[in-house]
Amino acid sequence: MDKVQDTIDILKMYNQEHIIKLLENLDDQKKQALVEQISKIDFHQLKELYDNTKKEIEIKENKIEPLPYLDKKKLSEKQKEEFQRLGEAILEKGEYAVVTMAGGQGTRLGHSGPKGTFKLDVYGKGKYLFEILAENLKEANQKYGKVIPWYIMTSKENNDETINFMEKHNYFGYDKDSLRFFAQSELPLVDANGKLLVGKDMKIREASDGNGGTYSSLRASGCLAEMKEKGIKWVFIGGVDNALLKMADTILLGMAIDKKVQIASKSIVKANPHERVGVFAKMNGHPKVIEYSEMPEKMAEEVDNDGELKYGEAHIMCNLYTIEAIEKISKETLIYHSAFKKNSYIDENGREVIPTEPNSFKFESFIFDAFELFDDIAILRGKREDDFAPVKNKEGVDSPKTAKELYEKFWNK
Ligand code: UTP
Repeated sequence: MDKVQDTIDILKMYNQEHIIKLLENLDDQKKQALVEQISKIDFHQLKELYDNTKKEIEIKENKIEPLPYLDKKKLSEKQKEEFQRLGEAILEKGEYAVVTMAGGQGTRLGHSGPKGTFKLDVYGKGKYLFEILAENLKEANQKYGKVIPWYIMTSKENNDETINFMEKHNYFGYDKDSLRFFAQSELPLVDANGKLLVGKDMKIREASDGNGGTYSSLRASGCLAEMKEKGIKWVFIGGVDNALLKMADTILLGMAIDKKVQIASKSIVKANPHERVGVFAKMNGHPKVIEYSEMPEKMAEEVDNDGELKYGEAHIMCNLYTIEAIEKISKETLIYHSAFKKNSYIDENGREVIPTEPNSFKFESFIFDAFELFDDIAILRGKREDDFAPVKNKEGVDSPKTAKELYEKFWNK
């Protein structure tokens, strides 16, 4: 009983009284489960995160400069061959692993299952996003004669559904022993007033804590240790929702080796100065991705002597790391950002509310916030039509329709 009272005291202390009423009406088993869950929440951290949502982001005081890049299409044949040779050697020795971040909620797409289980309507029959990724890796396996260990990051929410789906589809022909799933960590969701949401299962609603959680989750799950044991030297980390993602680009890998950097990333040129993408820059001497919402308008429009956007290299979740870099980042705490999203909840009368407009904050760390822990990273500019077919929104830009068109155009080439 004391534990229940302790929980009530904590809820009162952090202005979460609405949960007390729900708690009191639960049967013993459910009450116990909720009390247990609440005891693991760091309310102090949550309050800090919520308070931060009201603060303005100020980047003006920071020193921002463009970050140099290499343009893939402008590389000489000799340079390209040299990069390829360096990259291929790593793949042929089996020193390369791939991580797919599939722990997102995919709220904008509105698909009922995990995003990777979304079927893109290509070539009549259609292909699932996980199937497209598996095909890309299988092609590399065949080319370099080694099976790339593939790690799929899920969330606690979609883990079982993801594994069942992959099993049902026989892992799309991927070697089962080279495929491992791991779930990422979570944080509670809060509404616009900082109140916790309760779900249909009468538990506090929690959601994955952003793709920046990949690093620490790789460590906590033992995947990092496994990679080291396998002799992996380079790790590619990419999203689940880009139908043209190239996960084993030997030019990108060779460039990273040649430039002796710990991180390399592929970019594409922004479609226009105000495209809603994050761009690479140097902030206070360190590499950084600046989100579109944090970039002053004037800076977004600045051009260099060749008439190109100074801050035009968009980050497309196509990142490569040495195993040492992952190890280093996994020990750090990345900052959290907040995103206002649609999340269903139970109201005080126990009725489920499915919002039609965003209603709650999700706290997320971003994969690219780790870049500033390094002095330098290497950027390779790819091509939008070859490298980027995102599936983000239900309709309009970056939707299944645009991704299908880009995918078919690329493969028809
Ligand atoms: P997004 O930031 O686009 O989020 O994820 P999302 O969850 O897919 O979609 P919305 O914003 O809710 O509509 C970019 C990549 O990062 C992964 C996603 O699965 C996707 O591959 N991600 C995102 C995670 O793995 N975990 C997270 O907590 C967030």
